[in-house]
Amino acid sequence: MLNAEHAEQLDELLTCRLDLGRRAVEPCSIVIFGASGDLTARKLIPALFHLFCEKQLPTPFRIIGFARREKDDELFRTELHEAFKKYSRTKNVEDSAWEAFAKNVFYCQGDISDPAAYGKLRDLLKSSNHEALRNNFLFYLATLPSQFAEIVENLHNVNLLSKEEQKHHWQRVVVEKPFGHDLASAQQLNNELTKYAHEKQIYRIDHYLGKETVQNILMFRFSNAIFEELWTRRSVEQVQITVSEKLGVGSRGGYYEEAGALRDMVQNHLLQVLALIAMEPPVSLEAESIRDEKVKLLKSIRPLGNIADNVVRGQYTGGEIDGQKRIAYREEGRVNPQSSTETFVAARLHIDNWRWSGVPFYLRTGKSLPVSASEVRIQFKPTPNVLFAAQCGTKLDANAITLRLQPHEGIFLRFNGKVPGTSTQLRPVRMHFDYGVEFGAYTPEAYERLLLEAISGDATLFIRRDEVEAAWSIVDPIRQAWDGLPLTERELYSAGTWGPAASDDLLAQHKHAWRKPHPIPGEISDGKGRDAKFE
Ligand code: BG6
Repeated sequence: MLNAEHAEQLDELLTCRLDLGRRAVEPCSIVIFGASGDLTARKLIPALFHLFCEKQLPTPFRIIGFARREKDDELFRTELHEAFKKYSRTKNVEDSAWEAFAKNVFYCQGDISDPAAYGKLRDLLKSSNHEALRNNFLFYLATLPSQFAEIVENLHNVNLLSKEEQKHHWQRVVVEKPFGHDLASAQQLNNELTKYAHEKQIYRIDHYLGKETVQNILMFRFSNAIFEELWTRRSVEQVQITVSEKLGVGSRGGYYEEAGALRDMVQNHLLQVLALIAMEPPVSLEAESIRDEKVKLLKSIRPLGNIADNVVRGQYTGGEIDGQKRIAYREEGRVNPQSSTETFVAARLHIDNWRWSGVPFYLRTGKSLPVSASEVRIQFKPTPNVLFAAQCGTKLDANAITLRLQPHEGIFLRFNGKVPGTSTQLRPVRMHFDYGVEFGAYTPEAYERLLLEAISGDATLFIRRDEVEAAWSIVDPIRQAWDGLPLTERELYSAGTWGPAASDDLLAQHKHAWRKPHPIPGEISDGKGRDAKFE
């Protein structure tokens, strides 16, 4: 018999360290355009600081913030430090650690559309006495999307960015979302960027790909023989992907009016999760093999035909969440009081390939919903209608696997079990893998992983050109069907509910129903020490 300590040692021996082969991070200069913005202060700098503390950043490295406001390095560092204390996942950081990090941070004042500002940036970059810092560049575009092309052209004009393959040095461009607002604009942006940078140099961000649990989808599917066997139309009845948020649009009304939930969430995050859940096994773990399979999957999504039959939109009105009053979307700042922008989308998609033919994939996302939860539920087919099924009818629930992406990350397998006692009763029970319990509370921010991958030149977790275009081809017809069509009363939903009634009807037509996200252990209880009832 193995004792616990031995078992632990054995587990440790069996840990397969795939990233031993990861390319080394080389010294480089990281230039952030849009350095005065929220993303820099809330996400990028905290992520870089954490990487620094974990000794994952190269030595040496340099970070240069580029923005219009007048300030010097010292003021820039102080502002970043203040923001860090407010927003970072770690608190009470030693001042000495911050100081050690901050002395690598510099500020370059300049206007994005002023060619002379790029000359100043070049002089700053070339002033380093370290060869790699003068030549390896990661340009991070955390600006308005309308400025991406201009920045790249200006960098090229001052010889900071070139398509020519270089033997010993590299230049990469990281582009934030949204990448275009439809297929045509994404293609145009791609054409503009690839005039000055090779596709290999462009790293398009979808921060969902940096999440631990999203990365785990591939590991879960392709390192476990028992599940992958079931991952086909033969066993799966339907798949539900839910990304629900309690928050409303808050201060982002201006942006959201242009985007809506379809562009903000479905075109990128939900379709990315869908691609990982449904794609075929890649031929290798190389970035291109994985991305090839994702593109193939996106291209196998059946064109939606009549949009109204397959997609539902909604917009929140006033309501209540967790006992707090919530205002309507139309009352949010910088939102048109008659706005028809959708804050909720539910869709039924079909994947026309051998594996998934006939299996509906239901996607939904929305703001001001009752809970914040992202999860994928694989709902298996019921047992044949004999024995227990013959007696229990629809009360005998089919098996399901839920991949809980956030929060309370985990994987749950749901099956039926006998209720102990002298009577014969069956009810669903769950097997529960909880990330926190198994691995401890450490969950690095998506941006830490993504920045590290970009610095080391691994594009696996970034979106390739054909992928972004395939995703737009799926959502464009939906957008076109909605454009100019004002929202009707039926499309409104009260904050704190699960979207408009039509979202339930979309599934009911096929005798399916949305399952509520998995209850969080301990958060909702039935008063008898058990978690809330199964959904
Ligand atoms: C962003 C969207 O990309 O993702 C936001 O613009 C949304 O509207 C956010 O709130 C959700 O991300 P997360 O990591 O909180 O699930």
